[in-house]
Amino acid sequence: MKRVLTGIKPTGTPHIGNMLGAIRPAIELASSGLDAMYFIADYHALTTVHPPKYGAADLKRLTLEVAATWLALGLDPSTTMFYRQSDVPELFELAWVLQCFTPKGWMNKAHAYKAVADAARAAGETDVDAGINMGVYGYPILMAADILAFDIDLVPVGKDQVQHVEIARDIAQRLNHAYGADLLRMPSAKIDEDAQLVPGVDGRKMSKSYDNVIPLFAPSKKLEKVVKQIATDSTPPEAPKDPATSTIFQIYRALARPDEVAAFAERYRAGIGWGDAKKTLFERIEVEIGEARTRYDALIADPGAIDELLVAGAQRARAIAGATLGRVRRAIGIGV
Ligand code: ADP
Ligand code: TRP
Repeated sequence: MKRVLTGIKPTGTPHIGNMLGAIRPAIELASSGLDAMYFIADYHALTTVHPPKYGAADLKRLTLEVAATWLALGLDPSTTMFYRQSDVPELFELAWVLQCFTPKGWMNKAHAYKAVADAARAAGETDVDAGINMGVYGYPILMAADILAFDIDLVPVGKDQVQHVEIARDIAQRLNHAYGADLLRMPSAKIDEDAQLVPGVDGRKMSKSYDNVIPLFAPSKKLEKVVKQIATDSTPPEAPKDPATSTIFQIYRALARPDEVAAFAERYRAGIGWGDAKKTLFERIEVEIGEARTRYDALIADPGAIDELLVAGAQRARAIAGATLGRVRRAIGIGV
């Protein structure tokens, strides 16, 4: 059976874009006859979720929120291995070994680091590395360990993470070349080409970095308030409107069934007030996430139960990672 793995960074409260672009597709993939491992990359989040901007309680809360979100949206922990990265210490030992085979130049070109350094350069900073910690710099190596520890075939990721999966392959190739072709399994990135990018309230891609998100499990009142903030123009209610250019419509289209989308488009062409359009979207989101929100609220109210479930998941994951690490240690000449 092919094994699939992906990591989710607890760096923000999950939003509708995350659900449509990542969480739902991954849960569907897990139920399509693959052996799935989904984990919360809390130590990757630590590269940015730390003082002065964040405290320890934030990292804890975000980790819990992300776990509860996946469970509320249908991840089945009895069939999908679901765990916290930090509960699998083998990963960090493996990451060190991988570091010793990773040319520094590869990290200079890794996009997470390069984007920050390029921005500093463009801003005329003399020290382009100012403010970049080694966790950010070596990020792809820990990600390679996350993947290579588990003999993974497929890694579902957004386009921005493809380079990191390629780095994992390149590192694996180096070790296999040095110690034998069977040491580490070669993973492939799996990108969902038709995944639509959901716009946020300002019309740009919904992203926590733009502060334009519709939070997934906000209480009804708050959700309604956020939907009302979606940017519109000043066309009068009775004027016919082009649905294709409307952010409200694009979000609706990402959620609703084709027949509902067609009916909504018809209302646009007949002339619809923005207030009505927003109300339609708000009600549709409520229908879409209502039941999951009830599950989410119950889950989040019992953090101990989530912890327990994650620790049990980590135990299963450690058995696999331990075997890989043993194989690697023997191959490289470390330990007994
Ligand atoms: P953000 O942009 O809010 O920081 P992340 O980069 O943490 O979100 O994304 C986590 C996952 O959610 C990724 O797989 C990404 O492709 C998906 N995702 C994020 N934003 C959107 C969006 N607006 N539409 C569709 N998918 C998205
Ligand atoms: N870097 C990924 C992201 O930012 C999260 C991640 C960490 C990951 N380790 C992984 C994804 C391993 C896939 C496989 O979204």
